[in-house]
Amino acid sequence: MTVAPSPGERVFRLTEITSLSTDVRRVVLNTADGAAFFYREGQFVSVRLPDGVQRSYSPANACGAEGRIELHIRLLRGGHFSTWLSGADRTGSLVTLSGPYGECVWQTSVPTQAPVFMLGTGTGIAPLKALLEKALSADGLQPITLYWGGRTLDDLYLRAHFDALARERAHFRFVPVLAEPTETWQGQRGFVQDAIVAERPSLAQAVVYACGSPLMVAGARARLVDELGLAPSRFLADAFIPAVVTAAPTCEPLALTIRAHLNGEARPLAVTAGSPLMPALAQAGLLAGVCGGQGACGTCRVRVRPPWLERLAPPGRQEARLLRALDSLPEHRLACQIAMNTDLNGIQLDCN
Ligand SMILES: Cc1cc2nc3c(=O)[nH]c(=O)nc-3n(C[C@H](O)[C@H](O)[C@H](O)COP(=O)(O)OP(=O)(O)OC[C@H]3O[C@@H](n4cnc5c(N)ncnc54)[C@H](O)[C@@H]3O)c2cc1C
Ligand code: FES
Repeated sequence: MTVAPSPGERVFRLTEITSLSTDVRRVVLNTADGAAFFYREGQFVSVRLPDGVQRSYSPANACGAEGRIELHIRLLRGGHFSTWLSGADRTGSLVTLSGPYGECVWQTSVPTQAPVFMLGTGTGIAPLKALLEKALSADGLQPITLYWGGRTLDDLYLRAHFDALARERAHFRFVPVLAEPTETWQGQRGFVQDAIVAERPSLAQAVVYACGSPLMVAGARARLVDELGLAPSRFLADAFIPAVVTAAPTCEPLALTIRAHLNGEARPLAVTAGSPLMPALAQAGLLAGVCGGQGACGTCRVRVRPPWLERLAPPGRQEARLLRALDSLPEHRLACQIAMNTDLNGIQLDCN
């Protein structure tokens, strides 16, 4: 099957696929034209397979000029991308990439001595590794602590690499955490958010990066802000939300109608009271929504027609920041941040 990039997409070739653990594959992709691909460490990209299905992945390497990215992909049984990747030798295959997206990037506005804490679960280590490579190559002396959690030792597939790094760099500390360790395990037990809270570090000046399981990200945010006084704006996160979870519920008590316009043509769609607008629009193929509704990618941006715009609650801080970064117009909103209610029944918006 051939790949035809849409505007804003780039064609990449899978050049290396190796095993990092029982179910994690390291996939190296190179731009097909050999030109550079720029992103900020901690961001993610959306990979589109030849059959059109898109999934988000976070580069695990610092950005270079050679147009090469390294992904760590956990294979999920029955998952679409996972089945494609493991179904045959995909070396040499072409895919298209869009992005980069996301704001879980190195914060340059904080004091250079502010301590940094990184929390990752499973393949959430990928964007943290990229951030770490960038930070260490800049020769900064900020104290950095990385907490990496998994179920068993097999999940911490780069443990030897980070152990060695911690021996080399005096200001870098690595804390592996296992939820289901063997009896002989000498390290931390439980979850990464428990491990950092148990140490009770001062977070007054700190920056925290959290990547991986949505449960860990939500739990860490709540505990670090509530129990350790972290400023919410210094908690940067990418939750690896599965695409299937963002699908709109199919049978719900109160169905509302929206009118989505694409190239001027109106399409009525049904959505459910209480659910966000984005999944219905994504399912109808009207937009992408690649970050799963985290307000991090901007691919769900729509133009809301008057008088509906005035009926919406004003954008929250995260939405406002992303809309500003995208040079948006006043009528632009993120569909993933709009929760449908009966006042919005009949809302009209433009998807292009
Ligand atoms: C911002 C972001 C960054 C990410 N970065 C990474 C990364 O660096 N590495 C990484 O490994 N992942 C990452 N992810 C997750 C990744 O995008 C995919 O969600 C993941 O790889 C699974 O994709 P899949 O197509 O294999 O599975 P999917 O087809 O999406 O299925 C996911 C799971 O749901 C199950 N499932 C499928 N269909 C159904 C159904 N109808 N009902 C119930 N269950 C079902 C599958 O069996 C599977 O277990 C990231 C996600 C986001 C949002
Ligand atoms: S889905 Fe990514 S910003 Fe809305």
